[in-house]
Amino acid sequence: MTDGVNVGRRRFLTGMTSAVGAAGAVGIAVPFVKSWNPSAKAKAAGAPVKYNISKLEPGQMVTVEWRGKPVYVVRRTEEALQNLEKVEPLLRDPNSEESVQPAYVNPENRAIKPQLLVLVGLCTHLGCAPMYRPEVGATDLGGAEWMGGFFCPCHGSKYDMAGRVYKGVPAPTNLDVPPYSYEGDDIIVIGVDQEGTA
Ligand code: FES
Repeated sequence: MTDGVNVGRRRFLTGMTSAVGAAGAVGIAVPFVKSWNPSAKAKAAGAPVKYNISKLEPGQMVTVEWRGKPVYVVRRTEEALQNLEKVEPLLRDPNSEESVQPAYVNPENRAIKPQLLVLVGLCTHLGCAPMYRPEVGATDLGGAEWMGGFFCPCHGSKYDMAGRVYKGVPAPTNLDVPPYSYEGDDIIVIGVDQEGTA
């Protein structure tokens, strides 16, 4: 009898734990879903999307959706910026001469403000979403030669911390930089050019 009661109680407690666990998981998932999904109205109109970068830590990346595409926003570290030059001999188009970006971004670091990188997160091979791999020297990505960047898991294309494509991979060009601008110091407006024309 005693055993039966204990088993029942254990089951009850297990049930409670699962319920709390599920609620916790929902609590974590909601902010991500919110940040990923723009309003239906914005989506339908292809409207510009604003993102406040003030809480983005050095090295951190967020994904913002714009016109149905993932846009990566990365706050690059000083080390990442210094490494851009070191990796250039390994790149196919280091000066972005054959790649898509607005004329107002720097062709090497590919940004308006060097620390803030904004890229369309679609591989220029067949459109998979490259993974953010900022770890310098990652052994699975070439070891000492890897200075951090983006890796496409579909067919192995590699890009540096400016979205510039490596030589010898399937992707033909650098990751696209979308039109964007700043509203004050902290708001990035994706979809509106720096000069103010969409
Ligand atoms: S889609 Fe990225 S390497 Fe093919």
